[in-house]
Amino acid sequence: MDYEELETLFRQVETAKKEWEMTMDCMADMIILADSEANIIRCNRAVIDFADKPYKEILGEKWPQLFSDHGLQSADFQVSAQELYHGDSGRWYFLKIYALCSKEQASCTRHVVIAHDYTEIKHIAEALEQKNTELEQANAELKAAHSQLLQQEKMASIGLLAAGVAHEINNPTGFIISNLGSLGKYLERLTDFIDFQSGLIASRADEELIAQEKAERKRVKLDFIKDDVRDLIAESLEGAARVKKIVQDLKGFSRVDQADFKETDLHECLDSTLNIAWNELKYKTKVIKEYGDVSPIMCYPQQLNQVFLNLLVNAAQAIADKGVITIRTWEKDNRAWVAISDTGSGIAPEHLQKIFEPFFTTKEIGKGTGLGLSVVFDIITKTHHGEIAVESEVGKGTTFTITLPFGMTRSD
Ligand SMILES: Nc1ncnc2c1ncn2[C@@H]1O[C@H](COP(=O)(O)OP(=O)(O)O)[C@@H](O)[C@H]1O
Ligand SMILES: [Mg+2]
Repeated sequence: MDYEELETLFRQVETAKKEWEMTMDCMADMIILADSEANIIRCNRAVIDFADKPYKEILGEKWPQLFSDHGLQSADFQVSAQELYHGDSGRWYFLKIYALCSKEQASCTRHVVIAHDYTEIKHIAEALEQKNTELEQANAELKAAHSQLLQQEKMASIGLLAAGVAHEINNPTGFIISNLGSLGKYLERLTDFIDFQSGLIASRADEELIAQEKAERKRVKLDFIKDDVRDLIAESLEGAARVKKIVQDLKGFSRVDQADFKETDLHECLDSTLNIAWNELKYKTKVIKEYGDVSPIMCYPQQLNQVFLNLLVNAAQAIADKGVITIRTWEKDNRAWVAISDTGSGIAPEHLQKIFEPFFTTKEIGKGTGLGLSVVFDIITKTHHGEIAVESEVGKGTTFTITLPFGMTRSD
């Protein structure tokens, strides 16, 4: 090979080397060739820029040291693939270590270290993740809104039905009460008249007629009837009055128009709800009312009725055999407080976080929808800006405590 050929070859090698260096230098990724002791043998421009010192000074330095000195920390640089964050520049690097094995040498004594700058991808991934959580959240909100709508729809139709039934019962109850009243009065007159007749017979008739009258009186048990009929009418009147009260409560309760915002006596709400729920409560529970002095409150009474009903029904359902439901009210810190306690099964600690979620239920299908408490939560916190807390001990019972501000304004 003559000089010229050598020169050409040399130039070719030189060009190839330059090209390869340029290839390495144009990358934003840091590329390092290191020996088995992690000393830097060679590196590209990105490393020089990162270290901000001349190439010569970088050579021989240990690359983990160089990275740490310049703010790229890792708990263990031996890990062959890891994510690193550079706080100063806010950039993310993916660090990968490759063993460089030559055919001649049996062992791999050199390493190629690449710190790939993937900040943009990381940001996109983060944005995607953020979007994803937003979507999940929106989905959950939609689900909750849907379930609440369903529940409202159900309550509205039940309300409509109940209002119709209440109306139908109201009329006959009215005339039953009025007729019973008349019947009572007529009866007094009739018995007066019979007494008058008996008096006449006793004073004017002969012995035989008097005896006959006495015998007949005894046969038909007139004296007993006279007393008993009064009791019967009084009892019937009481019963009819009770029906009337229930019908009134039902009418009030089932008002489809739930937007009624007004000053309300919480105790009236509680009492009318107790009347409605009575059928669920009466067999198993003894209800103790400990009402304190609570000023009237601005609220949506129909919705609060709904809250109390859901809590009372839950309390009754938690009591297996016999138990006590205590309703306490008081006023404190310019707020009204209502606590409904039961001596029922209690709530397992791992369930406490979930009970207000829509569709969470521990009850069998048909008995529970898991919507009751989610509706309660929304009505108390969103509509009334109040709070609800729960305390429970398994086997002992549960207390739900509601706090309502007095000075609430209409929400729509
Ligand atoms: N007073 C209570 N005592 C015990 N567990 C209760 C009580 N109130 C609610 N829970 C628990 O919370 C769950 C959710 O209640 P809720 O939202 O009203 O739905 P549902 O009554 O339809 O199951 C119930 O299934 C029950 O496990
Ligand atoms: Mg319930």
